[in-house]
Amino acid sequence: MKFSTQKLFTLATLLLVITAPQFSLARTADEWRARTIYQLLTDRFAQAPGQENPQLCSNNQNEPEIRHYCGGTFSGIVSKLDYIKNMGFDAIWISPVVKQMDNETEVGVGWHGYWAQDIYQINPHFGTPDDLKNLVKAAHDKDIWVMVDVVANHMGPQEKKTPRTDDYVKAYNPFNKTDHYHVFCLISNYNDQGNVEYCSIGSADDPLPDLDTENPFVVSEYYNWISWLVKEFNFDAIRIDTARHIRQEFWDDFTKSSGVFSIGEIPDGNSGFVGSYQKHMDSTLGYPLYFKLQNLYSNPNANMYEMRDIINSNRNSFNDTRILGNFVDNHDQERFAHKTQDKVLLRNAITFVLLMDGIPIIYQGVEQDFTGAPTGNDPFNREALWPTSYSQTTPTYQFITNINAFRKVVPQSFFTSLSIEAWIDEHIYAFVKDKALIITSNYGGNNPNRDLVIQGNGVWPTGEVLVNVLKCDEKITIDGSLNVPVKIDGEPKVLYPENNLKGSRICGL
Ligand SMILES: *[C@@H]1O[C@H](CO)[C@@H](O)[C@H](O)[C@H]1NC(C)=O
Ligand SMILES: *[C@@H]1O[C@H](CO)[C@@H](O)[C@H](O)[C@H]1NC(C)=O
Ligand SMILES: *[C@@H]1O[C@H](CO)[C@@H](O)[C@H](O)[C@H]1NC(C)=O
Repeated sequence: MKFSTQKLFTLATLLLVITAPQFSLARTADEWRARTIYQLLTDRFAQAPGQENPQLCSNNQNEPEIRHYCGGTFSGIVSKLDYIKNMGFDAIWISPVVKQMDNETEVGVGWHGYWAQDIYQINPHFGTPDDLKNLVKAAHDKDIWVMVDVVANHMGPQEKKTPRTDDYVKAYNPFNKTDHYHVFCLISNYNDQGNVEYCSIGSADDPLPDLDTENPFVVSEYYNWISWLVKEFNFDAIRIDTARHIRQEFWDDFTKSSGVFSIGEIPDGNSGFVGSYQKHMDSTLGYPLYFKLQNLYSNPNANMYEMRDIINSNRNSFNDTRILGNFVDNHDQERFAHKTQDKVLLRNAITFVLLMDGIPIIYQGVEQDFTGAPTGNDPFNREALWPTSYSQTTPTYQFITNINAFRKVVPQSFFTSLSIEAWIDEHIYAFVKDKALIITSNYGGNNPNRDLVIQGNGVWPTGEVLVNVLKCDEKITIDGSLNVPVKIDGEPKVLYPENNLKGSRICGL
């Protein structure tokens, strides 16, 4: 057979269209501003439909068991997307997807995804590459964006073997040469940034081999890889694990190569230190705010004036605090519901995180009041979700749903503006954002019965009626001095003009 050039060209174009990966929209920081993220651990979120083993990891205190795979998969996530969607989330953060070391260690195996063996293969415990593509597509079909967790600092551990020998490194792909790794040392001083970047995390028995991210092969391989990963699977953002363990300049081209919104993990309370990373990636997790808020809201004796200080120092230290990833819980920190049993305090913390400047992240299980008992920490704060039967009727699930619905009603200016402090004292922190007045406190279940007059500063006219979106029968009328008279009872309040809620179906309006 003979084809004309024209026909060949048409055929080639056709093949290209058929075989080309899904067109990627490459979501930017600006597009992420108004999103709300649900953080899930793939192994712990949902098992594959028809292949469930509900007993597995149903006893979260069985420590050997929960340090191994519990059976969650990509197809499991697909089957439970409505559980996430119905709570009002429009983005998920999934744990790392690459193939892990399967070696047994004294702390189990890499079910969490942070112990890579081959960065070009997909973790077979979670499904096939096509299963992962199906997950992203199914999420996009429901307008849920997908942020993938990625690691560039280290590979997975091999128990009681000395890293950086030929015999050791041959297990990894593509980093199978000794000079792809730093000479072995365990991090000994977190105040010495050189030590933090050069040496290994992990324990003496199970160090995580630390990649030489100054080695040109390692650097270019990572830039190619992140570009491939995001395009191949059509991800909308990356969450960068152990970001502070690699020199900052490495991230400039890494994040550029990804082509999407990036958010780095720097688990430190110092705004200046964490803020310096925002020059090298779009955003970071809001750790400085987190360390304050978890204490301020869980401890009725903590002094809320510290909230003002941290907000100010964040604004001075970050390029843009409005895209920081804010959270109450994650898989690395003690569960809030373990610090305190008081659900009123939990609701105050959740309200603050969902409405303060930033992109809120709610970690799986918060909605089910998981406590991470007995310690609240790793490994117990990584509970499987199936023992809850994915109930959508728990008070916390519904509470989150209400605030997320409210986030869908406010104008875009809500997400581009900075909050303005409206009231502060030892127990109360209140702020205005757009036309919303958000009042939080750390009284918890001890109702203080306080009457407060909060200055309106001209945000609302006299006579304007504000409804508490969290308790629809509570309405407040702006008084003749343009102020807001409120009764403080310990519960958070989200007050918004009734007029602006018309047609939203919030509070039946
Ligand atoms: C860990 O697993 C890799 C890959 O299966 C293997 O080559 C290596 O020998 C194992 N290491 C140990 C210490 O068992
Ligand atoms: C290292 O990986 C490369 C690329 O996959 C491969 O060609 C090479 O044979 C590997 N070297 C060793 C020592 O396994
Ligand atoms: C700082 O933030 C602004 C607003 O989000 C953004 O346009 C700008 O690119 C950021 N600058 C840097 C250096 O990241």
